[in-house]
Amino acid sequence: MPFINLLRQYQRHKADIDHAIHAVLDHGQYIHGPEVKMLEEQLQQFLGVKHAIGCANGTDALVLALKALHLQPNDVVFVPSLTFVATAEAVVLCGGIPFFVDIDPYTYNLDPNSLKAAVQMAKQQSLPIAGVIAVDLFGLAADYTAIQAVAKENHLWVMADSAQGFGATHNGRLVGSCQDCTIATTSFFPAKPLGCYGDGGAVFTNDDEMADLIRSIRVHGQGQEKYDNIRIGQNSRLDTIQAAILIEKLKIFPEEVTLRNQIAKRYTEAFRNRYKVPIHPSKDTCVWAQYTLQTTDRSTRDQAMKAFADRGFPTGIYYPKPLHLQTGYQHFPHTSNVSVCERMTQTVFSLPMSPYLTEKEVEEICS
Ligand SMILES: Cc1ncc(COP(=O)(O)O)c(C=O)c1O
Repeated sequence: MPFINLLRQYQRHKADIDHAIHAVLDHGQYIHGPEVKMLEEQLQQFLGVKHAIGCANGTDALVLALKALHLQPNDVVFVPSLTFVATAEAVVLCGGIPFFVDIDPYTYNLDPNSLKAAVQMAKQQSLPIAGVIAVDLFGLAADYTAIQAVAKENHLWVMADSAQGFGATHNGRLVGSCQDCTIATTSFFPAKPLGCYGDGGAVFTNDDEMADLIRSIRVHGQGQEKYDNIRIGQNSRLDTIQAAILIEKLKIFPEEVTLRNQIAKRYTEAFRNRYKVPIHPSKDTCVWAQYTLQTTDRSTRDQAMKAFADRGFPTGIYYPKPLHLQTGYQHFPHTSNVSVCERMTQTVFSLPMSPYLTEKEVEEICS
């Protein structure tokens, strides 16, 4: 059993996906063809956001968003220490300084109290603070209400790194609708809840100026004309074939999220007496990029993973090392207490999660 079975989705929807790919091959507009615009419009409609701007991947989406926010050299951006490295990497790529913050032990998302402590620390050191990137880890929306309260008090912008959380809601509002943040990003990496069959990403915002800037930066700082370069940009276009695939996948996305939730519910019933299962605020929804269990200590975690592996079920650790302890990032500042992140790296493991797991497979994993 693969950890995430992408082939099954393709086999189930092969006719539609093949047709969409061939339509691109037939019209030949491989770069920024009509499917890109069509997908952007559909994403806008799905999320209820003014601008959806496709780009090459989720890391670039973060970089483009930071550039649109005019991040200045050495500006401090608060990020959770338990996330995929791209969240902090994008800050460094834009000349900023990631300041690592602890997470909540139940939701695995950025802890607003730890954010408060980090802001105080940065202020005491007279660091120029700019914003915070909240991550919708494992597909659960971060606590944007509490994060916004800290941000407003300290004049910080809030960005949502929703690479794992496309479709998740906070207080009934889709994260990508940008009602609780200035700008949001996502990744269409194949294993993500809304994934394509290669690399892809998108930025979402209701701000016209930022949207114009991102549309220009993603094509080499283009102005009104093709060879008119009005600023320094980069090449970060969403591939037309990937956009065509995403149009097909967006159609089946709501049904896939329902199936993921059903599997998560079954896992929780089966494992709640043995491990710490995910506990989510009732006001928020999750798209289950990962279903993660927690043990009491590392050796119990390792034994559990071995037991699953011995029976042919793959598991994964997201993530084995927090960012503030990574060689490339340990020189950046962090709050005095990042102990939850450190503990989680020793005790968490994730189960196979895919809308295309059969009932029989889920029952086998549970038993
Ligand atoms: C939280 C988070 N942010 C950013 C990224 C980067 O996305 P991509 O791999 O498309 O560059 C990922 C995905 O890998 C992610 O999980």
